[in-house]
Amino acid sequence: MTITLSPTADADATIIPLLQIDDLANQLTRLATTLAIPAATLQADFKADPKEVLPIYQTDGRKTYLLGMGKAPQANDWFRGFRRFFFDQKTRLPRHVAVDLRAIGETQDVVSAIEGAVLGIRGGGYDLKLYQTDKPKGPAIYGSEGRVSLLVTDESLATEALNRAEAIAQTQREMIDLMNAPGNYKTPQTLADWAIQSGRKHGYSVRVLNKAQIEAEGLLALLSVNRGSDHEPTFIICEYVPAGVENPKKVGLVGKGITFDTGGISIKPSASMHLMKSDMGGAAAVLGTLEVAAKLQLPVHLIGIVPSTENMVDGSATKPGDVIGSYLGKTIEVIDTDAEGRIVLADGLGYMVRNYQPDVLIDLATLTGSVIATLGYHAAGLFTNNDELATQLTRAADQTGERLWRLPLWDVYAEDIKSDVADLKNFSGKPLAGAITAGKFLEVFTENHPAWAHLDIAGTAFGETEFGSQKNGTGFGIRLLIDWLRK
Ligand code: BES
Ligand code: MN
Ligand code: ZN
Repeated sequence: MTITLSPTADADATIIPLLQIDDLANQLTRLATTLAIPAATLQADFKADPKEVLPIYQTDGRKTYLLGMGKAPQANDWFRGFRRFFFDQKTRLPRHVAVDLRAIGETQDVVSAIEGAVLGIRGGGYDLKLYQTDKPKGPAIYGSEGRVSLLVTDESLATEALNRAEAIAQTQREMIDLMNAPGNYKTPQTLADWAIQSGRKHGYSVRVLNKAQIEAEGLLALLSVNRGSDHEPTFIICEYVPAGVENPKKVGLVGKGITFDTGGISIKPSASMHLMKSDMGGAAAVLGTLEVAAKLQLPVHLIGIVPSTENMVDGSATKPGDVIGSYLGKTIEVIDTDAEGRIVLADGLGYMVRNYQPDVLIDLATLTGSVIATLGYHAAGLFTNNDELATQLTRAADQTGERLWRLPLWDVYAEDIKSDVADLKNFSGKPLAGAITAGKFLEVFTENHPAWAHLDIAGTAFGETEFGSQKNGTGFGIRLLIDWLRK
């Protein structure tokens, strides 16, 4: 499928998104005239509510779809509205469709609409059936000859929004595929290989430490989680340096890359364990953001680190009560081997602060069930002591619809991770404030970085979508971070 901008188009179907504004009645009257149908009927049958779709069949065989967008749609409403529409209708759409965006007024609205619509159109073509053998041929609109013409009044304004959305959509799709890939198709080396290929293609450097190098560097916390696995760990370091920018801001991103989390010896119940193939959502956000930033040539210096391993059960796996070391030299008492994300992040964060000294440090991780109990599936937990960073990230979250909600990091919570025998322990042992104590644990390994934020994306990285009956990958974090980096 190709998506292009054009002032007019001779398509076989036209999609017209409409807003619930005062002018709606007039817009419908004009449309009724063009389509030669009674205006009163059209006004009675279409209210422009979100998700509302009215197909109109013309005698010449063409179709017009009116798509309700509600009152004041934000970028994310455009995204959701278009993704649902294209997903639901894709088999009924002809090869060439037009999307008429000419009625949208304000500049900022046009940019949000185009960005959201393009991401939605691409997203609606997503197919979970990666491993089905008798796959029917896909719908024409998503085939190589499929064409979508976006009808806009100002092409110069729209071009940048279209290109940016295309860049994000493509990367996001690859990340969603990685998220949805089962554990037997995805190992730490798979993430490393993806990063190496991406770096080559888009011009940023990628270094992957293998097990021997991880041992040599003393990344002992990562190694302890890896003990039960037959697959060697990887430690992925990506660096994108913008060309021709003097003293660019240096941003360090660290992502949890657990390719499967059984819980280890503190094994998880089996009912939902299969979902733990998605425990690399933080890695997906970090790797995806690096790729998009390189594609868009953003003027920031980015370093991405992904410590990656499985968390498995085996005779040599780390046991509850074991005391392990870490890159920064601090000792950790492993109370619960299922709290493995914070352990691998300890080394990711420690390595980042010691070797790169970023101006801003952000980690993303599918870290705790506790954040889901707190915020459900609609927002990720934001933990930071830096108010300005909190404001910036929350603004980007509101703009993209990849929502964040701030939770505290007060020192009283650190009491719960004091250990009798080691520098700290990885679990309080209490079913209370689990997302916060996990944040306090990570804080230790940032060496009190003044501009650090931790995003607990356990509830948002993998969720219910129109694509299937099981939870599946959302690509959460890429749009959010790119929006933040751009501003
Ligand atoms: N990967 C899980 C967190 C998770 C849970 C992500 C549900 C997505 C959906 C993490 O490694 C984990 O197991 N956390 C434990 C920590 C506990 C043992 C302190 C949890 O939250 O139960
Ligand atoms: Mn776990
Ligand atoms: Zn985990």
